[in-house]
Amino acid sequence: MKNSLKFCVVLLSVLLFSCSNKNDWQTAVASPDSTIKVEFKLAEKGEPTYLVTFKNNEVIKKSTLGSFDLKDMASLKENFEIIIATKSNFSEVWEMPWGEQTKVENNYNELKIELQEKTDLKRKLTIVFRVYNDGLGFRYEFPEQENLSEVIITDENTQFNLTGNHTVWWAPGDWDIYEHLYTTSKFNEIDALSKVNHPDLGQTYIPENAINTPATMKTDEGLYFSFHEASLVDYSGMTLKIDKENLSMTSELVGSERKGYKVKRTVPFHTPWRTIQIAEKAGDLIESRLIVNLNEPNKIGDVSWFKPTKYTGIWWEMHLGKSTWDFSAQQDMTSFTTDAKPHGNHGATTKNAKAFIDFSAKNNIGAVLVEGWNTGWEHWIGFEDREGVFDFVTPYPDYDLKEVVRYGKEKGVEIIMHHETSAATETYEKQQDTAYALMQSLGIHTVKTGYVGKILPKGEYHHGQYMVNQYNNAVIKAAKYQVAINAHEPIKATGLRRTYPNTISREGLRGQEFNAWASDGGNPPEHLPIVAFTRMLAGPIDYTPGIFDIKFDKWKKYNQVNTTIAQQLALYVVIYSPIQMAADLIENYEGNPALQFIKDVGVDWQTTKVLNGEIGDFVTIARKERKSENWFVGGITDENAREMDISFDFLSPDTNYGAIIYEDAEDSDWNKNPTSINIRKIDITNQSNLKLKLAPGGGFSISLKQLNK
Ligand code: NOJ
Ligand code: CA
Repeated sequence: MKNSLKFCVVLLSVLLFSCSNKNDWQTAVASPDSTIKVEFKLAEKGEPTYLVTFKNNEVIKKSTLGSFDLKDMASLKENFEIIIATKSNFSEVWEMPWGEQTKVENNYNELKIELQEKTDLKRKLTIVFRVYNDGLGFRYEFPEQENLSEVIITDENTQFNLTGNHTVWWAPGDWDIYEHLYTTSKFNEIDALSKVNHPDLGQTYIPENAINTPATMKTDEGLYFSFHEASLVDYSGMTLKIDKENLSMTSELVGSERKGYKVKRTVPFHTPWRTIQIAEKAGDLIESRLIVNLNEPNKIGDVSWFKPTKYTGIWWEMHLGKSTWDFSAQQDMTSFTTDAKPHGNHGATTKNAKAFIDFSAKNNIGAVLVEGWNTGWEHWIGFEDREGVFDFVTPYPDYDLKEVVRYGKEKGVEIIMHHETSAATETYEKQQDTAYALMQSLGIHTVKTGYVGKILPKGEYHHGQYMVNQYNNAVIKAAKYQVAINAHEPIKATGLRRTYPNTISREGLRGQEFNAWASDGGNPPEHLPIVAFTRMLAGPIDYTPGIFDIKFDKWKKYNQVNTTIAQQLALYVVIYSPIQMAADLIENYEGNPALQFIKDVGVDWQTTKVLNGEIGDFVTIARKERKSENWFVGGITDENAREMDISFDFLSPDTNYGAIIYEDAEDSDWNKNPTSINIRKIDITNQSNLKLKLAPGGGFSISLKQLNK
């Protein structure tokens, strides 16, 4: 504490005081365990700045905080003085209705700094920092005030100045889609513009060298960071603009060509949290609950009507080209009638749905997704005039929705509804109430939504404020009908599942579907060992694992899944989602002993432990089921074979577990021999250690059931 005379300290909660010598004012707040510290300071011209230390070493150098450029108004960025600063702390334990763990500790120290411009409009801005043991978040609050009633933000300009040329796992800051592969590079080699014009993306727009969040990094000293945002509500998604020379990133909000600005809000309001997770072990990033903790508690009450579940579906067959979503060859929607002539290859038939119900009922799988059940599929991809096309209550003539639902109930299997909006937002908005009401009347509690294509109205992007509101409003509306949403082509997850726990899962990454048709050969073996430490930090992923026919030569000669079958099983544990698809065709599961794992594996967890991991290389996760004492372990590797020593010290003491191990065989290889698998049974206790071999692109999974004592 240099300059102590001029230094104003604000003590815990109750002690508030403003500072006399405001220009030199500075203050700091540390995490409960004191490892992470944030310092705030007004710079020479009264600009708010911050820096972050970890164990007393600088990890974010002095950086400018929100320096808001506003339309029709002077920027809000300098000439500030501190009116008051408040410190407080908070500690609670809250329960996830479903999730990676039952109880979540939420423990932080907060520093709130209320600023005001010294002259002219004397506008006010408040900056709030929350510092946790696993990272920090800060946000801007625009309080009620005289000279500011509405803000039109053209830029936010939050800076993150790095302390070195870190290794970064990044995907481009695309305004329209998150379905790019990750690249591993040094910070000063990030080149998002090299990713424009992706041939397999229905919509993509990368305006500059910016990256998407979560963006994860490793320093030369071995410290890990992940940059993201929490509680994205009525604001635009944030990308991070790269300044290679200065090793710096600046928040760059997704815009709207229709409106010509980034965000419009009425005062008072606050922005989402800008978050930095910090960890000494890569796996600690996965165990961190910072993002959900920075969201408000549950606002929709009891969601026990949603049950985490495994599901099968009429889905992969369309991606393989075995069947189609559409019913006829007719494409003129102005005259489409349900008696249009069928082309004969429609996937969503009553008969097919019943076959999936039968298979699911037999294999401890609780639900069946049916895509292509409703009219409109003749006129979606590639059409500009998509408004008024999809109908979310009218089934095709060969699909008896009520009968399928009835049959499912009889067998104890729920139907998952599907709403492909084709990004025609007005049509979807108009039909939401009737569509969700239909679901409620049928006792259907889950819908998978999709937003393929350029957003209508034109000029909007998937990740801008307009769409953020579309996605959030859908979830809020759906809750009224006891409907939970699994969105594809979604907005990124920012922990809102805490506030609206009917936000169950989403895509928002290159999913399994790319393996069926991508022109670049699909998702490489390193994809998921990167995803686990990047996209997965945001929230649950509907990756749709469990492809057993890895090469599917019968359908596609030039595409395949780039993992072994043992890795496909491991994904049920590694990639978290409260709904997990067994995505393959029924005929590829029948008779395969590996199906036993899918049958047994849990979907809702008491506890999650990351046993090992390095980003882009490998990761092993153990999870304990909520409704039983069973544990499941999954490990995956990239294109490199490796050996892993797994210790089972996380198991309950003095207990015997019957373990089934599903591992790569000696000759397994994601490309040469992907379906070779070894399945064995052994007994395990918390004293046990196992050496496991993972093939290139391989993995292992283990189910551990308590044996009667
Ligand atoms: C894209 C989704 O990601 C995929 O899962 C779905 O099958 C298609 N859209 C059709 O809605
Ligand atoms: Ca997709």
